[in-house]
Amino acid sequence: MTASLRGDYSRAAKDYSVEQDWGAYATAEHALFKRLFDRQAKLVPRYACREWIEAIAGLEAGNEIPKFDSVSKKLRAKTGWEIVAVPGLIPDDAFFTHLANRRFPVTVWLRKPEEFDYIVEPDVFHDFFGHVPLLFEPVYADHLHEYGKGGLKAVRLDAVKMLARLYWYTIEFGLMRTPQGIRAYGAGLLSSGGELAYAVTDEKPARKNFDLEQTLRTDYQIDKYQTTYFVIESFEHLMRETAPDFTPIYARLRTLPALAP
Ligand code: PHE
Ligand code: FE
Repeated sequence: MTASLRGDYSRAAKDYSVEQDWGAYATAEHALFKRLFDRQAKLVPRYACREWIEAIAGLEAGNEIPKFDSVSKKLRAKTGWEIVAVPGLIPDDAFFTHLANRRFPVTVWLRKPEEFDYIVEPDVFHDFFGHVPLLFEPVYADHLHEYGKGGLKAVRLDAVKMLARLYWYTIEFGLMRTPQGIRAYGAGLLSSGGELAYAVTDEKPARKNFDLEQTLRTDYQIDKYQTTYFVIESFEHLMRETAPDFTPIYARLRTLPALAP
């Protein structure tokens, strides 16, 4: 799996963790991070959910690539989560094991300047800017922990493909209904220069009320804007909807065809 990925996996531990080696980032990389941050910072007040906006404000993270250790210290105090540095995408069981232990894997490397608008693999900007702030939100933090445990179960049940669709339509591309209208909480949206506004306001995509079985069944496309987004009412709502035992649901959905995106 790691052969086609661009991170350096040679120094990773068994759990795929690495040193962040913050001193090794080039000045130009810190500057690129800041440029990415500044572009998104203009968009998020209008398009991100309140919980994310409040959390990023407490992080003072916009000037350079953050030091994971110091953010982890704040996170541990707030919700018991921490960041673990990784070389990039990691295998399912390693990923789920980290989440199940309240450790969020964050890629150490930053994209190249020519990837400013679009990148295929997650980098430190996507992982940090998109995912880390919501780990400060207690209900979201608990939900992601449950997701990790559910992931290990899905590995045993050979149901990771279905569970990954749920992740895609919530943790990566989820929308939420708020008093200010529809807002984004999905990391793929929050870190995207183009899709964030598109997801929240464009008339083209469908915005459906969150439906657990539908998300588990719906395929997704990783190389273009989504055609369907799923809208939750709150993180409590998401927590409630995903609380039931998925074992019988997997068994039933396995016999049905997947739905087109
Ligand atoms: N309830 C799920 C199960 O039994 C686990 C889960 C929790 C999955 C939260 C996703 C989110 O498998
Ligand atoms: Fe992500």
